[in-house]
Amino acid sequence: MEKLQVKDKTFAVSIPEAQILEAVKRVAGEINRDFDGKEPLFLPVLNGAFMFAADLLKEITIPCEVSFIKLASYQGTQTSGTIREVIGLAKDITGRHVIIVEDIIDSGLTMAHMIETLAAHNPASIAVCSCLVKPDALKVQIPIDYRCLDIPNDFIVGYGLDYDGFGRNTRDIYTLV
Ligand code: IMP
Ligand code: MG
Repeated sequence: MEKLQVKDKTFAVSIPEAQILEAVKRVAGEINRDFDGKEPLFLPVLNGAFMFAADLLKEITIPCEVSFIKLASYQGTQTSGTIREVIGLAKDITGRHVIIVEDIIDSGLTMAHMIETLAAHNPASIAVCSCLVKPDALKVQIPIDYRCLDIPNDFIVGYGLDYDGFGRNTRDIYTLV
């Protein structure tokens, strides 16, 4: 099994590139079918989704737009706890069919927050497309319209996903050993 060292941790290949790309192609086909004539606006979430978004969009054949967004975390001044704000929403999404493109859904809290924030801008519809989902880790009910692969509740890196900022730049996905 091919190993990958990221800082102090060792990972082993768990999902090879070919398997990822096959699943990405299937999901792109579903989106091409469902959004024909709707000119969707893809909103990939930085940083993790950059690689998935690139592969997905290469398989999208219908007219569409792409605009990257990011969740910025900062400590609130009034209340305790982390406030997360969606930044980089350059496009007016009012009346648009938006598709959120994420790397992975773990607890689902990030996506729940994202949906709530975007819904306030009155899009025509919001769809969620995640490369990976950890079904056993979900803590909140969220609609996951498109998913490439379900994975066990283990920590992974590669294909855009990081461990402490490193390990994003691989073709395959690796699991912590
Ligand atoms: P959630 O809010 O718990 O669903 O977490 C979602 C975010 O946590 C993702 O967008 C990733 O940035 C990060 N994340 C969750 N699981 C992993 C993992 O296994 N490896 C790397 N990042 C992860
Ligand atoms: Mg992420």
